[in-house]
Amino acid sequence: MSVGMLNLPAQFAEIKDEVLAEVRDIFETQTFILGARVKKIEEQMAALAGAKFAIGVSSGTDALLLSVMALKPKSGDEVITTPYTFFATASSIIRAGATPVFVDVDEDTFNLRADLAEQAVTQRTRALLPVHLFGQMVAPSEWITLAKKHNLLIIEDAAQAVGAKREGIVAGGFGQLACFSFYPTKNLGGAGDGGMVLSNDDALAYDVRINRVHGGKDRYFHDQIGICGRLDEIQAAVLAVKFRYLDKWNVRRRAIAKMYNEQLAGTPVTCPKEASGAYHTYHQYVIRAPRRDELMEHLKSKGIGNMIYYPIPLHLQKCFDFLGGKPGQFPVSERLARETVALPMSSELTDAEVQEVTKAVREFYGNAGA
Ligand SMILES: Cc1ncc(COP(=O)(O)O)c(C=O)c1O
Repeated sequence: MSVGMLNLPAQFAEIKDEVLAEVRDIFETQTFILGARVKKIEEQMAALAGAKFAIGVSSGTDALLLSVMALKPKSGDEVITTPYTFFATASSIIRAGATPVFVDVDEDTFNLRADLAEQAVTQRTRALLPVHLFGQMVAPSEWITLAKKHNLLIIEDAAQAVGAKREGIVAGGFGQLACFSFYPTKNLGGAGDGGMVLSNDDALAYDVRINRVHGGKDRYFHDQIGICGRLDEIQAAVLAVKFRYLDKWNVRRRAIAKMYNEQLAGTPVTCPKEASGAYHTYHQYVIRAPRRDELMEHLKSKGIGNMIYYPIPLHLQKCFDFLGGKPGQFPVSERLARETVALPMSSELTDAEVQEVTKAVREFYGNAGA
């Protein structure tokens, strides 16, 4: 039995009638941009994280770009973030005119370490940009304390963590700005690109809102140089339907993670660790595996999907050479890039498929833990 990384057709089968009715209505009314459906998903997302403002935007990348732009950074202003993340976390900092300062991540949760972030704070630091990687939040209390102490803003990259919780706070619920991605493979995914910015801050939210439409409150009057960063109605319609299933789907992901943990116990792999008080939503189920590349080949030969997130930490990416990153600078991120692999994960994965995956992993290690 082959097992894909995810199974979007099966997800669509569950919601097909609802989605197609919405999409049909959009075509009947011919309202495609920033209409009632965008407003609806904005309300749903604001309610989820208890945010005052939600602004639907064109992607998670643009959510980050607009958020960093809202800080109005001056050249040389610094934003502290993680090198073990998707490219857009750092590229948006640079595109908005600031400088990313990387610090290393925690070995167990793969998330940015607040203690190392504190050591990296300088006179030029404007913001902290932690990522809730793979569906597990950083600890809000640590970041709130750090930000208050040094008078910094927090931008949460919650692209992978819609519905995740920690310390009683929902992802997107503690930063002055929080960014979500609705890329189709995300826990809440559209039918194309989409994203959202949440905020409780009137001025920052205003900035994001006008900059998603070329920097003008009124059409053709431009106060700032914004971008074309709108969420469209078709995405919003699909998202509003899927939003109703989000809790159920996240519960299923957690159940799958538990099955993986149980069935991989005793093998040489390290399963993902949930920090205390964390409600991990397993956007990805990422293990650390000895002989990782050989394991990947083995899984591939059995038709089992797998993927490396992320093969090259950002400080070693060619395009960021000018930042002066060197091998060995962030040993944990570099080790994770060498040792981790994501196994199939989606709310549609069946129990039998989970077993197929863990059987193949055990086989590879000579049936350890069987
Ligand atoms: C952590 C993180 N940040 C930002 C993004 C960017 O989101 P998008 O692909 O919607 O632009 C992603 C998407 O993969 C992500 O995983």
